[in-house]
Amino acid sequence: MIKNIGILTSGGDAPGMNTLIFNLVKFGIKNNLNIFGIYKGFYGLYKKKIKLLNNKNLSNISNTGGTFLKSSRFPELKNYKIRKKIIQNTKKKIDILIVIGGEGSYKGALELNKMNLPCIAIPGTIDNDILGTEYTLGYFTALENIVKAIDNLKDTSWSHNRISILEVMGRKCGKLALAASLACSCNLVITPEKKIKKEEIIQKITKINKKNISDNNIIIITENIYNIKKLAKEIEIKTKIETRSTSLGHIQRGGKPVSLDRIIAYKIGLHTIKLIKKKKLGQCIGIKNGKIINYKLKK
Ligand code: F6P
Repeated sequence: MIKNIGILTSGGDAPGMNTLIFNLVKFGIKNNLNIFGIYKGFYGLYKKKIKLLNNKNLSNISNTGGTFLKSSRFPELKNYKIRKKIIQNTKKKIDILIVIGGEGSYKGALELNKMNLPCIAIPGTIDNDILGTEYTLGYFTALENIVKAIDNLKDTSWSHNRISILEVMGRKCGKLALAASLACSCNLVITPEKKIKKEEIIQKITKINKKNISDNNIIIITENIYNIKKLAKEIEIKTKIETRSTSLGHIQRGGKPVSLDRIIAYKIGLHTIKLIKKKKLGQCIGIKNGKIINYKLKK
């Protein structure tokens, strides 16, 4: 009989994780399930940091950012002995493990699922880089944070007739940069999927500013492509337009989830508990054409 469900958040936290946990607990309890919170991701599973959750004390934090279960990266999970210990730790205590996280967390869920700890993986990352889902929990809030940052940046950049480079997160995925660029009509967007050589960047920016200095002189770039300080210097020398660079950093990952992330969290919570009741395990949850779907957890 399925009775005890464990939940953990792993990798980078994402806004909406708390809303999702709240809904999993709420719908879980309604369905006579015991919901256990595992603290600090897979590390907590290894160290037996497990506590029974109750939805009464969760409503206050249900719409806050971050994850109250805390998160961690736990590369040690690649080690078979560590996984074996986790399987021993969870035996008779947890029937199903819900893993909320990004790509790395999915790999962990897959490995434990193979070792007979049934897992359900839920996409929780601002990067929106998980195959099989159109959106991930936290993406829309991070996008909103970036858009607000660009609006602020534009005010000061425009006042000085400057070019500004804004670096955003995304790891190896340019979706945040691309969407923010569309939302703010930035002059240029550089993503891992469409890297642009420095010479080409300078050519494009020179062309845009040829007649008059543009009012939209924002270049948005995904992290880990160029050293943005150096790039700003080079652009300034070549275009003779003052250029500044800003890395948005972890600010974009925080804050209360926007409505869309809260609604996604609610729908995913409900769908996941329904799946559990149907004993459909070893699954990933996703969003397709606006609907919550599930598909097999596999490589
Ligand atoms: O995966 C989420 C993410 O925010 C990435 O966009 C970023 O590259 C990474 O996490 C940063 O990780 P950390 O918080 O460990 O510095």
